[in-house]
Amino acid sequence: MDRNIHPIFDSLLPREKKEKLLGQKGIVLWMTGLSGSGKSTLAKGLEAMLYEKGVLTKLLDGDNLRTGLNFDLGFSDEDREENIRRVAEAAKLFVNCGIVTICSFVSPTIRIRELAKKIIGVNDFYEVYVNASFTTCAERDVKGLYKKAMSGEIKNFTGLDAPFEPSVNPFIELNTDNESVDGSLNTLFRSVLPVIKNKK
Ligand code: ADX
Repeated sequence: MDRNIHPIFDSLLPREKKEKLLGQKGIVLWMTGLSGSGKSTLAKGLEAMLYEKGVLTKLLDGDNLRTGLNFDLGFSDEDREENIRRVAEAAKLFVNCGIVTICSFVSPTIRIRELAKKIIGVNDFYEVYVNASFTTCAERDVKGLYKKAMSGEIKNFTGLDAPFEPSVNPFIELNTDNESVDGSLNTLFRSVLPVIKNKK
C-alpha cells in the first residue's frame, strides 16, 4: 500500500557528527526487572555519575512515561507490548542523536525485550538485568503496590499474576538482593563508561 510517506533518513545530519560533538557514543541501556528491584534508583544514580563525566544522557522511566506518551496504556500483555514499542522508538530517536539513553522498564518478557532490541538495533542495545527476588521487592514495597496486588486490588501484577522472565545473556546483571546500591552503581558505571567513551 502506498502511504505517500517519504522519509528523509539518508539526508539527516549524521549521528557520527553529533557523537563527535558530544565526545561520546550513544547507546541504549535497557534496565529490566521487577517493580521495586532498583531499576529507577540505579538509572538515576548512573545518570548523575555520567553527568559528572560530561556525558549527555536521557532517562526514560516506566512510571514517568505512563503519565504522558503512554498515558492510555494499562498492564495487559498487549498494552505492555505497545508501551515497550513506543519507548523503544523514542529511545532510538535519542540514541541516533548520540545520547546515552537509559530505559527503566519492567519489560517482563523475553519477547518484549527482543522487540525493543529489534527496534533499537542490536549494536546499540545493552540489557541490564536488575535482579531482585519477588520476596525482596515485596518486602521493600516502596510504592505500596505489592500489598495492593496481594490483596487483589491490582490485577496482572508482574511476578504475582503476570509473568516475569529473567534476562538471558544480559550485558550486565546486578543482584540487588544482596548488593548495596553503591556497589551495583559502581559495577554499572565501570562497565558502561568504556563503552560510551571508546565504542567503535
Ligand atoms: S511494563 O511491564 O510495561 O514494562 P512499566 O515499566 O512501564 O511496565 O511500568 C511498571 C510500573 O508501573 C511499576 O514500577 C509500578 O510502579 C507500576 N504498576 C502498576 N500496575 C502494575 C502492574 N500490574 N504490574 C507491574 N507494574 C505495575
